[in-house]
Amino acid sequence: MQTTVASTPQATPMTQDTQTKEDFFTQRSHFCGDVTADQVSQTVTLNGWVAVNRDLGGLIFIEMRDRSGFFQIVADPEKNPQVHGILSGLKAETVITATGPVTRRPEDTYNPNLPTGEFEIYPTSVEVISRSKTLPFQLDDEADLVDEGLRLKHRYLDLRRPKMHQNFLLRHQVAQAIRNSLNSQGFLEIETPILLKATPEGARDYLVPSRVHPGQTFALPQSPQIFKQLLMVSGMERYYQIARCFRDEDLRADRQPEFTQVDLEMSFVNQEDVLSTVEDLLCQVFSVSGITLEKPFRRMSWQEAMEKYGSDKPDLRFGMEFIDLTDIFTTSEFSAFRQQVEKGGVVKALMVKGAASYSRKELDDLQVMAKRFGAKGLAYIVYNEDGPKSPILKFMSEAEQQAIQQRTGAETGDAVFFAADSFNAACAVLGRFRLLFGEKHNLIDKNRHEILWVTDFPMFEVDDAGNLSPNHHPFTSPRPQDLELLDTDPGKACSLGYDVVYNGAEIGGGSVRIHQRDLQAKIFKLLGLTDEEAHEKFGFLLEAFEYGVPPHGGLALGLDRIVAMLAGEDSIREVIAFPKTNNAACPLTSAPSAPSEEQLKELHMAWVLPEEEAEA
Ligand code: AMO
Ligand code: AMP
Repeated sequence: MQTTVASTPQATPMTQDTQTKEDFFTQRSHFCGDVTADQVSQTVTLNGWVAVNRDLGGLIFIEMRDRSGFFQIVADPEKNPQVHGILSGLKAETVITATGPVTRRPEDTYNPNLPTGEFEIYPTSVEVISRSKTLPFQLDDEADLVDEGLRLKHRYLDLRRPKMHQNFLLRHQVAQAIRNSLNSQGFLEIETPILLKATPEGARDYLVPSRVHPGQTFALPQSPQIFKQLLMVSGMERYYQIARCFRDEDLRADRQPEFTQVDLEMSFVNQEDVLSTVEDLLCQVFSVSGITLEKPFRRMSWQEAMEKYGSDKPDLRFGMEFIDLTDIFTTSEFSAFRQQVEKGGVVKALMVKGAASYSRKELDDLQVMAKRFGAKGLAYIVYNEDGPKSPILKFMSEAEQQAIQQRTGAETGDAVFFAADSFNAACAVLGRFRLLFGEKHNLIDKNRHEILWVTDFPMFEVDDAGNLSPNHHPFTSPRPQDLELLDTDPGKACSLGYDVVYNGAEIGGGSVRIHQRDLQAKIFKLLGLTDEEAHEKFGFLLEAFEYGVPPHGGLALGLDRIVAMLAGEDSIREVIAFPKTNNAACPLTSAPSAPSEEQLKELHMAWVLPEEEAEA
């Protein structure tokens, strides 16, 4: 899924006529990758790095590299001993200038892998501009296998690799496509503050102590959420920003402590307006990689996504939908299942083609895994040549066994796996197994592009003690038809929140917002905030909502995730120039680091380090 656009820089290189005596080096006339048959017999000057230096005893072959590509230069000790002497023994990644007439290589030495593979120069002069030490790792494709800490410590070297250049070219092109799409739809690009009062998105805040206000901190934005809403109150109508966000949360391959959102907000719109605007945007973004997305995208309610795929970000590149067997077990002898149904739970199953061949050990391992996922077990029936086999068959009547086989469509060679639990727990665990079986049986078609909207999320998550927390964030509007539920059974209310999901990954999320002051105050109350707390935290928003608020809605896309997926990378770190490690540190600059005594004093701060906490 690499971009097809050439990576040649567009800047016009300075010609040698403009060169002054004061310059430290001779400037290029051409980029390495730009030399074509047109330049044969012309003298060119190249600037770049020694990618490979092959000294064949007599001739020296150097592959020179700049951002545009590679070019071969050759030194012959007979023809030009001085140039040969300079190039001899030059380490990889030395920066040089080479000047000479372009010649066509002998036909039997053409390199079909390089666009410039038919040409070379025997330089008439070379300059060594800057030498390189021996590299900590080789800058070839194998670098992907090098310890990531080492790659990040020398990120400036890692980024020299053509693959990384390609990733950042793609990121740039995606950003351009975003700006083009939104500019053409009447959006204004507006910046919002980085030092602010906390914007809640469910993660911990990064705090910045204030020198001017002793004992007080700013928070870094988890998102520009509140400000973009205030911009709607300001009458800006359509806002966007390619915004840096900061979240102190547990990191994974698809999460960084600072990351980039394509953040947008629109006034006087309903949910469909936002979805269709974002569909146009995403179509343009994906077309950068030559991917055509069909509009309108599929829409699926959260309920349906959970019911069929056990995930609010279902991967639709393969089927294997859940099969509901709850009714079969209402009066079953198999008490482990019947009891779950009696408690209001469900029995859900996955039918996995070909899984009857699993070994005893594989089946046992699945049980262990199920327990690790927090499930009560993963009962199964395998359908062999000599009939169904399972430790649970003895608990089931003949009719139940037949009903299961009929409902699941299992045939000889297949297996059925069961989860009996509360709806959420059973769906969640089977959702994980669905992905696992999909991978294991190669069911996921990597050439498919399955994008969908998941809509009608529950407004709240409810913990065991009955406390509510927002499923998206506290500014998400309930569905109009669910307003009454806020008074009677708020846990059942659904919102006008939506996520956009691509190949099983959440690439964006948003909602229609609450624009009614009293409703917003009510939601804060349901979330357990007292009037004082709501006033302290969000008084400014509630006040803004007293001065005429347009109905509004919007969304934020995870730019890093989108670019990583388009680049075919598993980790967003591959498309972030200077990412943090998985423990939120920067090996290159050794950040974070301890402030000086003086800084602490200025900030009116003192540390209580973990050892001291333990002692106290
Ligand atoms: P949300 O929290 O869903 O919504 O974030 C939007 C998108 O940002 C990406 N994302 C991340 N990417 C990398 N690292 C992270 N730590 C990270 N966290 C989130 C995801 C996600 O879908 N203010 C709302 C949007 C709105 O309602 O308009 C918000 O921030 O792809
Ligand atoms: P037991 O009778 O508890 O030994 O369970 C028999 C089989 O059913 C084992 O494979 C368990 O892992 C499985 N099992 C038990 N309870 C559940 C459940 N709630 N959901 C799915 N499988 C279960």
